[in-house]
Amino acid sequence: MKQITIIGSGYVGTTLAAMLSNSGYQTYLLDIDQTKIDIIKTGKSHFFEAGLDSFITGGIDSGNLFPTVSYEEAIPGSDIIFSCVGTPDNRDGSSNLSFIKKATESTAVHVFKDIIFVQRSTVPVGTGRELIQIFENNTNKKVTYVSNPEFLAEGRAVLDSLNPSRIVLGSDDQKKLEDVQQLFNAIYNFAKDIDVKEFSDFASTYSNFKTKINEPNYIFTSLESAELIKVTANAFLATKISFTNATAKLADASGADITEVMNGVGADPRIGRSFLYAGLGFGGGCFPKDVSGLISNFKDNNVANPILDGVVEVNKSMPEYLLRKLQSLGSEIRDKKVAILGLSFKPGTSDARKSQSVILANLLVDRVDKVKAFDPIAMEEAKHDLSKGVELTSSIEEAVKSVDIVIIATEWPIFKELDWVLAKELMNGNIIVDGRNCLNKEEIINLGFEYVGVGR
Ligand code: UGA
Repeated sequence: MKQITIIGSGYVGTTLAAMLSNSGYQTYLLDIDQTKIDIIKTGKSHFFEAGLDSFITGGIDSGNLFPTVSYEEAIPGSDIIFSCVGTPDNRDGSSNLSFIKKATESTAVHVFKDIIFVQRSTVPVGTGRELIQIFENNTNKKVTYVSNPEFLAEGRAVLDSLNPSRIVLGSDDQKKLEDVQQLFNAIYNFAKDIDVKEFSDFASTYSNFKTKINEPNYIFTSLESAELIKVTANAFLATKISFTNATAKLADASGADITEVMNGVGADPRIGRSFLYAGLGFGGGCFPKDVSGLISNFKDNNVANPILDGVVEVNKSMPEYLLRKLQSLGSEIRDKKVAILGLSFKPGTSDARKSQSVILANLLVDRVDKVKAFDPIAMEEAKHDLSKGVELTSSIEEAVKSVDIVIIATEWPIFKELDWVLAKELMNGNIIVDGRNCLNKEEIINLGFEYVGVGR
């Protein structure tokens, strides 16, 4: 059986390593960060992802998962190597490929047999060709380069890995793709017969999991097409969101309700209802950097795509737009106390990178008397980007106590299901700003609140 190495212990790498090791493959999970590797060795991930820990524990207990910081230990014996290293953005919005290049170089100098190198990180089109050159300069063994973008979303990474919508494989050498397919077939066979009792924290999150497993949907392409599929998919989803948010402003201006509008628009199967939810806009480690990276990619190739500039502009405008709408209620907000509920960029994750909620909280600090904030799991990660003026609280009750305005910035279920009668008793004022359009507007108004939504 083939030996596998996965470089990078983020969402993409750790999830894949957990699945392959549970599917019977000897799998090295390689990361240069000793602290992260030490945590994984204990059977846990160093970030929050529902259900993932039980699969890491399963991999470690089966003796198939080897977390390591050593290229020397992992690479020489491996047949297939996955690159799952981060690609943050540079100041100018272009993709920072330094980590990817470093990982490729460190791999290349330890290659002593023919290998398949699978790129799973999100990279601009054309990157594969550059990396192939690195291998050619550093080893005389045959390296088959495959682009295999990952489409999992945070908060549902386990489910997406066990049941991916598609598996894109792009390469110059289509014959070698069978070896990579075998790995994904093994994950499918594992997922199909999974004993949910063994993975209890996963099973409790995804109780109807069994009904959702589909046979792998392989899409074979050229190297460049595979690279472009990934960034285009993310940019297209981001476009749906910004298009919706721009329309939400028109709904506000004209008396329409954006939820009703998108229910009607999304009922067309050619359009679909997903990603047409108005609110504060998109954040996280993927959409913002992938859209700006794609804009650079268009420019570098002298091709115009003005649509993407609009996507960024609309997204950037949303926190400010919501505040303007709040101010249009008539009362001055300078002397008000505000509670922000939710700091992660979306529910189900501790990730607060480029979170619109954090941007909103920071904007408010200079404009109101006091800003308090609460998130069920993302407070630690949000601290890096939060202004000092934001006071973090240890409970929802503490956050809403004595405030004039409550803003839902991330639609965690605990906020949607909040006891608003109790909240009203704790609050000083009666304004609810629904930054994710996740509350029942009529119910909230009937309880005596003033309601501010996005496009409704
Ligand atoms: C995204 C893609 O959905 C994945 O397919 C992709 O693999 C991943 O990026 C990646 O490139 O690694 P993710 O960033 O985890 O996944 O988050 P999403 O669930 O896509 O949400 C992104 C943002 O859009 C969130 O801030 C969310 O609140 C916002 N959003 C989403 C909206 O504002 N409205 C919507 O209708 C949907």
